[in-house]
Amino acid sequence: MPFYVTTAIDYVNGVPHLGHAYEKIATDILARNARQRGEDVFFLTGTDEHGEPVADAAAAEGVTPQELADRNAGRFRALIGLLELSNDFFIRTTDPGHIERVQQVLQRVYDNGHVYLGTYEGWYCPRCADFKTDADVGPGNTCTIHGIPLEAHSEENYFFRLSAFQDRLEEHFAEHPDFVLPRHQFNAAHAFLTGGLTDISLTRKELRWGVPVPWDSGHVFYVWFDALLNYYTALGYARPGEDLTDRYWPAHFHVIGKDILKFHTVYWPAMLFAADLELPRHVWVHGFLHGPDGEKMSKSAGNVVDPFAVVDEFGIDVLRHYLFREVTSGQDGPVSVEGLRTRYETELANEYGNLASRTLNMLERYAEATVPAVTLDPELRADIAGLADRVDELLDRAEISAALDEIWQRVRRLNRYVEEKAPWQLARDGAPELPTVLASLAEGLRVVTVALHPYMPAKTAELLRALGRPDTSDREFAEVGWGGPATSIAPLFPR
Ligand code: MSP
Repeated sequence: MPFYVTTAIDYVNGVPHLGHAYEKIATDILARNARQRGEDVFFLTGTDEHGEPVADAAAAEGVTPQELADRNAGRFRALIGLLELSNDFFIRTTDPGHIERVQQVLQRVYDNGHVYLGTYEGWYCPRCADFKTDADVGPGNTCTIHGIPLEAHSEENYFFRLSAFQDRLEEHFAEHPDFVLPRHQFNAAHAFLTGGLTDISLTRKELRWGVPVPWDSGHVFYVWFDALLNYYTALGYARPGEDLTDRYWPAHFHVIGKDILKFHTVYWPAMLFAADLELPRHVWVHGFLHGPDGEKMSKSAGNVVDPFAVVDEFGIDVLRHYLFREVTSGQDGPVSVEGLRTRYETELANEYGNLASRTLNMLERYAEATVPAVTLDPELRADIAGLADRVDELLDRAEISAALDEIWQRVRRLNRYVEEKAPWQLARDGAPELPTVLASLAEGLRVVTVALHPYMPAKTAELLRALGRPDTSDREFAEVGWGGPATSIAPLFPR
């Protein structure tokens, strides 16, 4: 099955912080799980480089928007290696292939009669790159998100006839209760929709930093339509000489933060209707990482954590694990380096790392480093078998933290199994049960490790190699243990 998954594309007016990294890792977990299930995955991420946020930041620095974009896109691209992302392409909206396809699609929207020339009058936030309705205007005509003064705008724009799609969108929401996940975000999007849609600006006249409008060279496209279309355009040129659109379109998941909900759940589907394109199956909306001050982590709040520094100190798997254990995916929550250190010690070193080293040590000591080929303990089997299905079921709804919790319960179960069975005692007594206990433990450890692989790709690969079963996609729970040689490894998570 084709499985196309995307992240939001980041503005290059700043450098990446942990909030950006969080979303990329979430998407990577979904992509890796889908690959384990044998699906034909395409995972897209990239940068959003046009529009006022970038033009203004460049002007403030005295460089051209392209120079700023080139420099900061490099920082976002460097996240890929840092975070162990398994993306298949990195799109930049300044790519010529993107620009050409944006023009083709929006020309079609124009030809289909969904665009007209008018004048926009109202408030505009240059940081949101968004036109504000009365409800979004804060005290003293400020932006409710950024707190900066809004600009009074009167400008000739081409408008997109969003209001004409009111009924079709409402039908789509009614027929696809999973269109937006989780449910509370579906409700928020639905409330925005049923509040009544007005037509929106499709082009900007006073801005030069954007994709030129093919039917009127005096305008560029409004950055949000240029940006949203990345999900579609990338498939056309990601593989030179090949068009992947038929193979992967539409997306299975668009992964986004809650601040860009209306763009993805109302404007974007309406645009797809207007361009005769199929709608994504799900938009999955994550919450915000907060800084220690309880505010959304952002450059303007001054509370950002640098992902490069954290990974440098702790390694990437520790960060990936921490983020989805600490903050329930889909909700907001605070993160901190101290919190990460605590979870590292309590869960990675003491629970999972300890389980791994105990298991390997006992295999070495009591079974000549070979997993005994015997029938597994049925009691333990009952607790572990079914894990992969349960994880898949949760990840089908992008419940990333809940799936990790299922896995973690099994890690704890296996540690209890060691305590209950006390294999060292069985060895001392020469008990015939010992090979069964060791094989069951090894197999249980392998099963949780395969399930953990999308979360912690590097450490789990290391451990599976040590267990003599390096296949990270082997999700079968074997009835009979296997005789593969196990080798010891240095502590996975040293204390
Ligand atoms: N360029 C637009 C998205 C266009 S998608 C067609 C944009 N860029 S952004 O750089 O401001 O944000 C990119 C993503 O990072 C968004 O999904 C946003 O919600 C997410 N995050 C930014 N700060 C965040 C946190 N503090 N926590 C979690 N995610 C956050 O919006």
